[in-house]
Amino acid sequence: MKILGIDTSCDDTSAAVVEDGKRALSNVVHTQIPLHRPYGGVVPELASREHIRNIWHVVEEALRQAEIKIKQLDGIAVTIGPGLVGSLLVGLYFVKGICIASRIPFVGVNHLEGHILSIFLEEKTPSFPFVALTVSGGHTSLFLVEDFGRYRVLGQTLDDAAGEAFDKVAKILGLGYPGGRVIEELSGRGDRDKIPFPRAFLSPDSLDFSFSGLKTSVSLFVKRWKEGAHRDVTINDIAASFQEAVVDVLSKKLISAASRYRVKDIVIAGGVACNGRLRERVEELSKRENMRLFYPHPQYCTDNGAMIAVAGFHRLRASDGCDLSLDVLSRFPIEALDEFYRS
Ligand code: KG4
Ligand code: ZN
Repeated sequence: MKILGIDTSCDDTSAAVVEDGKRALSNVVHTQIPLHRPYGGVVPELASREHIRNIWHVVEEALRQAEIKIKQLDGIAVTIGPGLVGSLLVGLYFVKGICIASRIPFVGVNHLEGHILSIFLEEKTPSFPFVALTVSGGHTSLFLVEDFGRYRVLGQTLDDAAGEAFDKVAKILGLGYPGGRVIEELSGRGDRDKIPFPRAFLSPDSLDFSFSGLKTSVSLFVKRWKEGAHRDVTINDIAASFQEAVVDVLSKKLISAASRYRVKDIVIAGGVACNGRLRERVEELSKRENMRLFYPHPQYCTDNGAMIAVAGFHRLRASDGCDLSLDVLSRFPIEALDEFYRS
């Protein structure tokens, strides 16, 4: 089955063709970062207008690279949430238009399910059940993945997402938007043990996350540093110490979730999973516990249409797809998936 996957949930317009839920024949992403950079974050109204401008070109390119025509597709999968309403609407109504004209079945997909299943685009894949940590600009969640379509939320952020913390700290340090990659770069030249920024482990058993205290702590530190305190500290040290605080919490909670549920395979996915220090730390800890770590290629970590096609494939295999009354769900908890696909 060849599925076209489309994601317009935030600021990237992306489309991909994936065969049998695992082999990406194309994966095209039009990033909007330059458009939003002057504002230090995504401006929803600008994002949806930009999706409208680009969606057709992105889809055409994905079809061209996969050497397939619309009529040869077996189905279309489109993100319907969670995400920015205006952005989601562009993707969904574009797909409805194609499907009315071509009579191809389509299915609405949960963006987080896409991130969890992005690992199936790789050659080496985990066995069920596995624990997945999805870390991006909008989400930080731990899932027990029992099978395709069967997910249990083990923990999630109570405030900021990890990627959001990277972006906010980058802003505090005057490093521009988005912040993840630049903080990682500076960290490579800094001392990660220089500043003991707080780690919010919450209660001992908690698998939830919180990053707003860390962000405030960095902000207060930087204020004093700019006023002349901590003269032996460089911007690289601040970046490295901040990154280490985030990585420390993410990696330890991931490993402790897997231990608690006696699971041997673990997955990290989402934009922050591109972070080399996170991968290194989780690799270290997982080896100690005899666990196997899996992470997608960076192009499948950040938002992409291929992961949506993977999730859509498993839904379309088991159903006729959705009907034209389908609407977007800007809040779409993964716990609501069963009810959504039953109705
Ligand atoms: O998955 P994604 O493309 O979009 C969302 O669904 O949010 O993730 C984007 C987020 C941004 O917050 C960005 O700063 C972060 O991922 N990110 C990173 C790195 N590359 C991207 N964070 C840490 N280290 C990186 N190398
Ligand atoms: Zn995402």
